[in-house]
Amino acid sequence: MSVTGSAIVAGVCGQPIRHSMSPVIHNAWIAAAGLNAAYVPFGPGEDNFETFAEGLRGGAIRGLNVTIPFKEQALACADRCSDLAKLAGAANLLIFEADGTITADNTDGPGLIGAIAVQAPGFDIAVSPVVILGAGGAARGAAAALALAGAPRVSIVNRTFARAEAIATSIGGVVEAASETELDALLAQAGLVINATSLGLGGGAGPAADLALTPKNAVVVDMVYKPLRTEFLRRAEAAGRRTVDGLEMLLRQAVPSFEAFFGVAPPAQVDVRALALAHLGDAAK
Ligand code: ATR
Repeated sequence: MSVTGSAIVAGVCGQPIRHSMSPVIHNAWIAAAGLNAAYVPFGPGEDNFETFAEGLRGGAIRGLNVTIPFKEQALACADRCSDLAKLAGAANLLIFEADGTITADNTDGPGLIGAIAVQAPGFDIAVSPVVILGAGGAARGAAAALALAGAPRVSIVNRTFARAEAIATSIGGVVEAASETELDALLAQAGLVINATSLGLGGGAGPAADLALTPKNAVVVDMVYKPLRTEFLRRAEAAGRRTVDGLEMLLRQAVPSFEAFFGVAPPAQVDVRALALAHLGDAAK
């Protein structure tokens, strides 16, 4: 269907934005569903997010996905938010309500849990201690989602201990900061190990954790998806562990966003993973 004056418009906002895969994914779903809709990229200047988002109040567009570096500011500009967005301290989804208010949510956490369900079926979060490597925004979102999903313990290990401590303090409950000297002992008990550092991006070595120490049924996740099979995931596979890749997380976080924008589920017949892999090209290798 062509885009007319009554089209529903949504988009993704980040800086830089030109490499975002979200327009590719959402527009493929829009076309397959035959919607009168469009999903477009926005790249406001680093200091301009607030002005940009405020200007959309009242429904100039239906909604926005928000990515680096604006996720914290997105939460701050909202009038209401989900428990998960609050706990994560960040939002990747804004809906501009007709009454002028802004609703914020975070679908990165459901993306992580959805990706585990697809690539490690049968995995039970409620009985699996989690080790998260890294303490940036990605780690915080994962810790919040896993704590809300009922993980018995979420241990955050980071080069800069104070950042891990800050996350544990703000989320509380089962989330704890652990030192690098405790890592081996934590790995020996882990059901889920997640790389939330930027190590491995672009093909370098991943975090130094010895994944062979984990129980045989442990699942290893890498949030990095360029390359798709990171050095960290290759090590997990070599140790015989099940793995979950960052691309599946990216695809799963898009599903609830699409539903929030357009009011329908993404058409199942679109192979978005193949589409995303083709779009990534050599970067996926
Ligand atoms: P994001 O918001 O995407 O999570 P970030 O806030 O820049 O990104 O966090 C990157 C993470 O990778 C941090 O945990 C960082 O560790 P520090 O908090 O100590 O900086 C981690 N990281 C990056 N380079 C690293 C390296 N060479 N060794 C260990 N950890 C590293």
